[in-house]
Amino acid sequence: MITLAISSLKGGVGKTTTAINLAFSIAKRGWKTLLVDADPQGSIGLSLSPSAQAYIGLYEMLSTGVPFEQAALKTKLETLKIVMSGKIPSHEISKWCASLQDGSRLTPFFKSATDGGYDLVIIDTPSGLHGPTEGILRKCSHVLVPQQCEPLALRSLMLTVDFLNQLQTENDDACSLVGVVLTMADPDVEDTKKIVEEIKRVLPPELVFQSMLPRDAAVIHASMKGMPLGLIRGGAPPAIALVFDQLAAELEGKLELVGPEQSDEYVSLVV
Ligand SMILES: Nc1ncnc2c1ncn2[C@@H]1O[C@H](COP(=O)(O)OP(=O)(O)O)[C@@H](O)[C@H]1O
Ligand SMILES: [Mg+2]
Repeated sequence: MITLAISSLKGGVGKTTTAINLAFSIAKRGWKTLLVDADPQGSIGLSLSPSAQAYIGLYEMLSTGVPFEQAALKTKLETLKIVMSGKIPSHEISKWCASLQDGSRLTPFFKSATDGGYDLVIIDTPSGLHGPTEGILRKCSHVLVPQQCEPLALRSLMLTVDFLNQLQTENDDACSLVGVVLTMADPDVEDTKKIVEEIKRVLPPELVFQSMLPRDAAVIHASMKGMPLGLIRGGAPPAIALVFDQLAAELEGKLELVGPEQSDEYVSLVV
């Protein structure tokens, strides 16, 4: 089972947007996917439920023993379930975050996901590299780093890469960087081009996803409606929804996700 953290030092770069829409796109490709909200702010719950309805989730599972099957919420896709962050009392947040920092509490959670037959667990983390994010990066097999096309991006990216290298020197099993995805990109803006070139100069090219997420008002529309971009109805799908499908295909290749039915060059639709 692949465990993929979506993390970055900087906030507001598109982690939650990427986690939701990438999970939707990859689940559509048939992979049994679990999307997990490890941000105590409950960003996924807020994005998918405009009424800010509080769901039980990771907090209840790890703190009060709510069973995995009860906390993993069904979605419109049979292949996708979601574990929300849970109803964390405000006075418990710092204790909860500190308790996740060494990652040990995730081991039984990942075991339940493995037993549940999941191919992929995608975890949306809070910004920064400390607290829950540190614990998750210690336990996940891979990390994907969304990076906004802006001048500060490079500095925050290099700090993130240094941190990942440090984790790997401490522990060979620490997560490996599957790639950086550029977000809120405007290919016509000169600064965007420069930042993309700079990132490709400092990172091996295979660590930069070719799919680049454009700045697109459809993201805000989908978030207001509480849905992934791929569920927006009426007219042609927004361009960014198709980019998430491309990103999912690229990720599938990078993670070498190959099921028995994918091993042939051509896959039969009729089963
Ligand atoms: N490609 C995009 N185009 C337009 N707005 C975006 C895009 N990606 C994210 N946003 C908006 O930017 C804000 C931050 O995105 P979010 O995914 O919550 O970032 P993070 O999880 O890294 O803090 C949100 O308001 C979101 O709707
Ligand atoms: Mg977020």
